[in-house]
Amino acid sequence: MSPNSIKICCIGAGYVGGPTMAMIAKQCPDIEVNVVDINEARIAAWNSDSLPIYEPGLQEVVQEARGRNLHFTTEVSESIEKSDVIFISVNTPTKTFGIGAGRAANLEFVEKCARQIAESSHSHKIVVEKSTLPVRTAEAVKRILQSATNPNASFDVLSNPEFLAEGTAVKDLLNPDRVLIGGECPDAIEKLAGIYGRWVDAERILKTNLWSSELSKLTANAFLAQRVSSINAISALCEATGADVDEVANAIGTDSRIGPKFLKSSVGFGGSCFQKDILNLVYLCEHFGLHEVAAYWEQVIIMNDYQKRRFSTRIVHTMFNTVSDKRIAVWGFAFKKDTNDTRESAAIYVCRDLLEERARLTIYDPQVKLEHIKRDLEYLMVNEFGELSEHHRKLIDSNVEVASSAEAAASGAHAIAVLTEWDEFKEVDFDAVYQAMKKPAFLFDGRNLLDREKLAQNGFEVHAIGKP
Ligand code: UDX
Ligand code: UDX
Repeated sequence: MSPNSIKICCIGAGYVGGPTMAMIAKQCPDIEVNVVDINEARIAAWNSDSLPIYEPGLQEVVQEARGRNLHFTTEVSESIEKSDVIFISVNTPTKTFGIGAGRAANLEFVEKCARQIAESSHSHKIVVEKSTLPVRTAEAVKRILQSATNPNASFDVLSNPEFLAEGTAVKDLLNPDRVLIGGECPDAIEKLAGIYGRWVDAERILKTNLWSSELSKLTANAFLAQRVSSINAISALCEATGADVDEVANAIGTDSRIGPKFLKSSVGFGGSCFQKDILNLVYLCEHFGLHEVAAYWEQVIIMNDYQKRRFSTRIVHTMFNTVSDKRIAVWGFAFKKDTNDTRESAAIYVCRDLLEERARLTIYDPQVKLEHIKRDLEYLMVNEFGELSEHHRKLIDSNVEVASSAEAAASGAHAIAVLTEWDEFKEVDFDAVYQAMKKPAFLFDGRNLLDREKLAQNGFEVHAIGKP
């Protein structure tokens, strides 16, 4: 390794930090990349054959670089000290307490990172915000960094938000629509642009001021989520009028001004970013007294909550107004296909509603474990004091189980609810599934994934989103 080569440290080995650093290390064999995390189990998993996150193609990327120039460790201070560029990629969940609860981002972890960087730095560092942050967080990070006591420590702060989507992270990182770098110091911007420039065309590397970069991330996610809520709003109207939402989406998507992507109606969007970032945007607007703007964006979330609730209500109404003691096979729990991530998954909300109606759930997801399902349901069912009632504990313990396949989940069930669009659900032997179910065999397709006509021929009573 040449003495001039760059050393990188990334704090936070999550869904964003892990894949992003693995890609940088793969593309730049001369750059040493250290990914650090306070969670020892997570670091151990990154160093094993069973990575902590499921992401198609990631295993190969990690295997190529790990041990060569990619290292996963818990030695945070040591890694900061020896690095030139430090990415902050820790989580920034929505605050659950105090001022801004339910809206503002909890910046506790980001602030702790900044303090640790200040303490452990003995030379010039470029600090890169990778986590999605409220606009003007860089100001706070800069001020904390100024508290560094070592006389040789100095800092430039850049914003470099991540636009990868889970399930396609490797593809998105390899061939991004754009890389966005916001900052004030041209040298620092060029240094970071030079790293991405090893595999991304120069014209795709956008350079802006810090605040534009921070706001662009929130805005991109708000626009994407808005499209989903818009088509979901139309799905309700389709069900009432006899129009077909997929036909409508196709018809409007061919207008080049609208475009075909992100018009897939569903049981509701999930994931760690959309809701959190919109809530953040809403909080920001309110802070600046822009109440109409805040209300406008909040409606995207209100529509999403409505869509999730509408789906579970439809299941109950269709099944003769009661699902009590009926068994419902839940196909898919992740917030989208090709990920094991369940954060804000629509499935958690639908399952919660069905449990409140005393249904018995048999869940199958190819990547999600029972302990995570139970954890998510508990989190959603706690009261305002963070306590789980005895009643809810019992519901989760006795009415939730997992199956080892989609077929096994459906065996003996009164209904199937498709909540994640895993490809393997399309390959199921529906004749056999139908035979093994209670009749009438209901199928609620929350992703418009399956062929309704064929299923009807199999004997199923099918209900899909936005379908007459
Ligand atoms: C996170 C943010 O949530 C998102 O806003 C941002 O865009 C990218 O980073 P993600 O990578 O999906 O997203 O979060 P997560 O998988 O929770 O990973 C964060 C990691 O940071 C965890 O492994 C956690 O242990 C670690 N962490 C957190 C630290 O190492 N130190 C801390 O102080 C806090
Ligand atoms: C999103 C952004 O796409 C990404 O750029 C950003 O960095 C992080 O947030 P992610 O949450 O990983 O990525 O997945 P995404 O593909 O955007 O899907 C989000 C949710 O919307 C999923 O629940 C998905 O099922 C849903 N969705 C998406 C729809 O319901 N319909 C669509 O047409 C598209």
